[in-house]
Amino acid sequence: MNYSLNELSIPVSQFSKDTTLFTIHFSLLTFNLMSIDEHYMRRCLQLARNGFQHARPNPMVGAVVVCGERIIGEGYHVRCGEGHAEVNALASVRPSDEHLLPESTIYVSLEPCAHYGKTPPCARLIVEKRLRRCVVGCIDPFSKVQGRGIAILREAGIDVTVGVLEQECLDLNKHFMTYHRFHRPFITLKWAETSDGFIGYADQCPGHRLTISNSLTRMVCHQRRTEHDAILVGRHTVMTDHPRLDVRHWHGDAPLRVVLAHNEVDSYPALYFSSVEEAVRGLYDRGVQSLLVEGGRQTLQSFIDRGLWDEAFVETGPSVAGEGVCSPVLNEHELVGTTFYGSNRMAWIKHR
Ligand SMILES: NC(=O)c1ccc[n+]([C@@H]2O[C@H](COP(=O)([O-])OP(=O)(O)OC[C@H]3O[C@@H](n4cnc5c(N)ncnc54)[C@H](OP(=O)(O)O)[C@@H]3O)[C@@H](O)[C@H]2O)c1
Repeated sequence: MNYSLNELSIPVSQFSKDTTLFTIHFSLLTFNLMSIDEHYMRRCLQLARNGFQHARPNPMVGAVVVCGERIIGEGYHVRCGEGHAEVNALASVRPSDEHLLPESTIYVSLEPCAHYGKTPPCARLIVEKRLRRCVVGCIDPFSKVQGRGIAILREAGIDVTVGVLEQECLDLNKHFMTYHRFHRPFITLKWAETSDGFIGYADQCPGHRLTISNSLTRMVCHQRRTEHDAILVGRHTVMTDHPRLDVRHWHGDAPLRVVLAHNEVDSYPALYFSSVEEAVRGLYDRGVQSLLVEGGRQTLQSFIDRGLWDEAFVETGPSVAGEGVCSPVLNEHELVGTTFYGSNRMAWIKHR
């Protein structure tokens, strides 16, 4: 970070006699400033999460305006098509505090936008309001922004710091980031397996279902469905389980129903694709930022073998099947965490 001691109102003479002392003090100051920036960026992240339900397909973004040690304004992107976080944060500044803006810092979890979309560019608004400094969590990968917002601010002489809590800011909008950076939806795999590693019975007899999930994990799975734009299964799963793929055990919108099959299944309305590649491309073209793949084995393994997955949630129940359809096998991966719901274990796994 670029702070001069003068800027911090600390007399340089205080340190100049002893360089060791100077170094220690300066390191502590830098550390302190970093933690101050992180402190306010954490508040941005906290605010941003409030946009979870309605910001989609826009990213969740939070902003905080700080003068000295006082927050004089804050806001988040509530709903797609409405004001961005910076607009809402600046609008929340009381008229009696407006004169403080030229001495204030605006913290924002995502780079301010540079383009005219449904709202005017936020970077221009920050320039108009003459803020002194802007601290940005991460760059916006959207093709119309990609660093242009930061360039507008810097050209106007605003001191810009980029990358505070960067990974957390990227993770908050992982679906949006993957969609714009890699031109495909973020792909989450999900399955439930018995303690001896089976996900279904082999006989494929309709209605003959292996029960693994419990009432708690059903709620968690349905909550996860609301977090995704689309949900996909293979043709055999449709034939054997006729899954509704809706949201019954949680509150929220059901994702778009997608089936991987060479032929459509009668009386099962869905979007059909005949290959993984076609599905991924077709969903990207439709603006689908996140895809939940819920099985069966062949379908899940097809995504895994192509390296087309980002995260997996694997539920293991206490039941034993003895034989049947084996669980998929993950390639390069790391376990992020494990949660127990009654006697069922849910592993959260990331693709490396
Ligand atoms: N426990 C769980 O979490 C869970 C979840 C879902 C399902 N299941 C169970 O899993 C079993 C079904 O699994 P499964 O492996 O037999 O079948 P599946 O993956 O559900 O369906 C396989 C079919 O999907 C299509 N497909 C899959 N990958 C493809 C690819 N790469 N390209 C083109 N088409 C592709 C093909 O359809 P075409 O035949 O049209 O070519 C294929 O025959 C059932 O027992 C079900 O109950 C368990």
